[in-house]
Amino acid sequence: MPAIKEAFSSRLGVILAVAGSAVGLGNFLRFPGLAAQYGGGAFMIAYFVSLLVLGIPIGWAEWTIGRKGGLAGFHSSPGIFHVIVHHRLGKYLGLLGFIIPVVVYMYYVYIEAWCLGYALNAAAGTFSQPGVNYGAFFASFTGAGANGASLRFGLQDVGIFVIIVYALNFFFIYRGLSKGIEFVCKWGIPILIVIALVILGRVLTLGTPDPTKPDQNVLNALGYMWNPQDIATGLKNPQLWLAAAGQIFFSLSVGFGAVITYASYLRKKDDVVLSGLTAASANEFCEVGLGGLITVPAAFVFLGAAGIAGQGTFSLGFNVLPHVFSKMPFGDFFATIFYLLLFIAAITSSLSMLQPGIAFFEEGLGWKRKSAMGLLAGLTGLGTLLVWWFSKDLKALDTMDFWIGTVGIFIQGMILVMVYSWYIGIEAAWAETHEGAAMRIPLFYKFILKYISPAFLLIVFVMFIAANVFGWNFALGAGAQFKPTSYVTDLVGPNPSGVARGTFLFCLGVIVLVGYLIKIAGKNWARASGETKL
Ligand code: PHE
Repeated sequence: MPAIKEAFSSRLGVILAVAGSAVGLGNFLRFPGLAAQYGGGAFMIAYFVSLLVLGIPIGWAEWTIGRKGGLAGFHSSPGIFHVIVHHRLGKYLGLLGFIIPVVVYMYYVYIEAWCLGYALNAAAGTFSQPGVNYGAFFASFTGAGANGASLRFGLQDVGIFVIIVYALNFFFIYRGLSKGIEFVCKWGIPILIVIALVILGRVLTLGTPDPTKPDQNVLNALGYMWNPQDIATGLKNPQLWLAAAGQIFFSLSVGFGAVITYASYLRKKDDVVLSGLTAASANEFCEVGLGGLITVPAAFVFLGAAGIAGQGTFSLGFNVLPHVFSKMPFGDFFATIFYLLLFIAAITSSLSMLQPGIAFFEEGLGWKRKSAMGLLAGLTGLGTLLVWWFSKDLKALDTMDFWIGTVGIFIQGMILVMVYSWYIGIEAAWAETHEGAAMRIPLFYKFILKYISPAFLLIVFVMFIAANVFGWNFALGAGAQFKPTSYVTDLVGPNPSGVARGTFLFCLGVIVLVGYLIKIAGKNWARASGETKL
């Protein structure tokens, strides 16, 4: 195979790229939504346990496996598992490492386009006009109101923004790792943090904007988000653990196939322990320290608990918040920079979803970078069109997010930790992780990586499937009934959803296609290694 001479310009570059991947919409929209929904305190306990037992250690495993595969000349998940796992089926362990980022990209960019569109609309004063109906705007802009509703191209439609966002992503990917991805992250992350601090300053000084509603003040708003409410009951709720663990994976970009590819561009002596920890810390700072203090408290101050309750993540971000901003002095300004912040956070993440696919086409099929980009643009474009057209209730988007972006990562996380601790073996893997490391991981993490993380993951996964696929209601205790969730009934229930079925089949089609491409890649790799042996 042709050697691919790509690299980040420095170790800081890789850390920034991984931090850019991690800090995304998950930090500023998904996290505050979940924490508020599950009642602050208890959720945070499950969240930090998941961070320490799953996120950070499996992250180290992913960095280590990535660097090891990269040193053997591979940068895509299928390639990396192919060289590390000496079995003819080994390469298929990397299937999800290709599928997840590519499919998540299909709908993630669609939301990224909303962010850009909302930023420009805020700047144009759309949200501060008298009598504007925020719900109607949300429904027509995102297409959540009706299928095909958003396939239009004015300022108040998503269309033009989808095109801009696609062009930007592929432009930066085309420029390569250091001139593209690293460049965007190097500028994007500091800008994003400054904007977040400015908005945070605004939110924390809101005081009691409406004197007739003295309860709606900043302190109560923070309390609404953070006061522990009946921790003991909360922690007994498996759904809460599932949500917390899922959020850790999603937010840290661990188990997606993105970190493994970035880490594969490291050199032998580049530290993965500190890099992994630094990227995770940066993510947690942005998530808990910034994201957790902005959206939900701001909404509470103006709309009270009733205005937030029952709002999904998207509705909170794109329906409730424009309304909230319109009530603040200089609301248009703050709304503009807020959606700009979301957009920057999103683009550094979506870029990380493209590199794994490009790397596979290059090293597996021997394609030139330009053709690889073209193929990937076509494939992801098809998926985005699907999400864009079948937008009613965001059904297609939601279906992809559940089956690939949530179920998929649990499986890939399990594969990673098992290959690390059991296949490579914890002793050898541990030594490998510490190669070039500036600090040593506390020894008890060996035990965690070998037993606790896989067991925890398995338990959470089984409960996750039981609860979300079969609708097992744990809270009911004895006599609980199976009540499949809509993700399942949409596919096989008495009233199936054609859109959900079609989307599911589309994802299956992508899996089969990619499985076939991996087979071809395997032949190429076998031939290449045969040649080097001669
Ligand atoms: N971590 C990103 C976020 O919080 C999402 C993401 C997942 C990005 C996987 C890349 C890979 O929004």
